[in-house]
Amino acid sequence: MKIDLVTDIKGDIKVEFLSEKTLKNHKQYKTLHLAGFNASQDSICFLHEKALLVCGVESSTNDDIRSSCSVAIKALKSSKYKSVSFDVQESNIQATVEGLVLGGYEFNKYKSKPKKTKLKNIYLVCNDIKKIKSRFEEAIIIADATCFTRDIVNTTPEDLNPPTFADIAKKLAKENGLKCEILGEKELSKEKMEAMLGVGRASRHESKLIHLTYKPKKKARKIISLIGKGLTYDSGGLSLKPATSMVTMKMDKAGGCAVLGMMKAISELKLDLEVHMFIGAVENMIGGDAYKPDDVLVTRSGLTVEVRNTDAEGRLVLCDVLDYAQDKVKADYMFDFATLTGACMVALGQYTTGVMGHSNRLKHSFSSAANSSGEFIGSLPFNKHLKKLLKSGIADISNVSSKPYGGAITAGLFLDRFIREENKEKWLHFDIAGSAYTETNWDCNVYGGTGAGVRFMSRFLQNIK
Ligand code: BES
Ligand code: ZN
Ligand code: ZN
Repeated sequence: MKIDLVTDIKGDIKVEFLSEKTLKNHKQYKTLHLAGFNASQDSICFLHEKALLVCGVESSTNDDIRSSCSVAIKALKSSKYKSVSFDVQESNIQATVEGLVLGGYEFNKYKSKPKKTKLKNIYLVCNDIKKIKSRFEEAIIIADATCFTRDIVNTTPEDLNPPTFADIAKKLAKENGLKCEILGEKELSKEKMEAMLGVGRASRHESKLIHLTYKPKKKARKIISLIGKGLTYDSGGLSLKPATSMVTMKMDKAGGCAVLGMMKAISELKLDLEVHMFIGAVENMIGGDAYKPDDVLVTRSGLTVEVRNTDAEGRLVLCDVLDYAQDKVKADYMFDFATLTGACMVALGQYTTGVMGHSNRLKHSFSSAANSSGEFIGSLPFNKHLKKLLKSGIADISNVSSKPYGGAITAGLFLDRFIREENKEKWLHFDIAGSAYTETNWDCNVYGGTGAGVRFMSRFLQNIK
């Protein structure tokens, strides 16, 4: 599907958005009313003889436009029409593009006979192309990067394992002019990353640390580190997950996929920032050489960790990668993305990314970035009492909390132990366990990976002071 900005209505059919108020004054009100169309949010009605598709919107907010565009594009993709036009304005161009690209996304890699769509061209009709062209192009870059992230999240664990994850990163680096460095198990051993290596020990795939760097042509205004949990499969390890919880655990690499998608967006937007990306790509499996509950792992930082549950593996990978990243890059900001805890979903629901960290100012800036990008984020506050729950009788810290409540926060506090004093205010942790994957359509998200994080992070970095 090709999307173009045009000044005159073109195409086989036109889409119009109607609210309950504007419906009453519409030329086709009678017909629409008879057809039972009441302009409620996400309702649609084809008037084929008028070459018109009307879509209900509750309001003219970007959230409602995005959602409505998603419904419209799904209906159009299974219709007879080859081309369609939508009216756009500067204020809703981003929401429209997101609704169309992300709502119309399909992952067909494993379908032997993918559905074919006749729809080839989407025309976005505006008064002044020059005025909105750059916003349009930015929206396309961010939406495409989100789809790129979705594609890799959706890829099966057999096809996407730590070495093939590294290959995908290498390919992106080559195409987008990024520096790429991959560490295999030999190098990880040299780096004393025993926690990360422990998690990957029972896998037949070699663990990889992937480091990409984007440097702008101009002088960089800021240096950013993005860190992603890249568990290409999380069986739970010897603390094996129940069968039903294991299904979908290919998505445990979504943090890594998100930061890779962000690198694609950042380099294509040509942001004047230096950005480093680190992915800990590991598979958590069972076997004779698997790491065990009762083991004590010596992390790269020297801090020792008692393993009480091998399913709390993400934090073991991240603590070593965070330590490595802090040594390699003196960043102004450091953000990690991870499908870290089921508890985050319990706390915030499946639609919302949990954000944790010490800087209220930074958390606040992300609330605005998320608001304007159509993603939800919610803050989960640290406190010193929850921190005490990570005490270990044998090592410096336990990998799980001694109490069953506040699990997303105690996981965040575990990571916090590896953030150096000078970086505390520069760091935020994003738990995308709920938001990264969906089995039901919501907003512009469809079955599978959502690409959570890519849109709000791109928005944040575009506006960073
Ligand atoms: N990858 C999971 C978290 C997860 C759960 C992500 C559901 C997406 C959907 C993580 O590694 C995990 O298993 N966490 C445990 C931690 C527990 C053992 C302290 C959890 O959340 O149950
Ligand atoms: Zn786990
Ligand atoms: Zn996991």
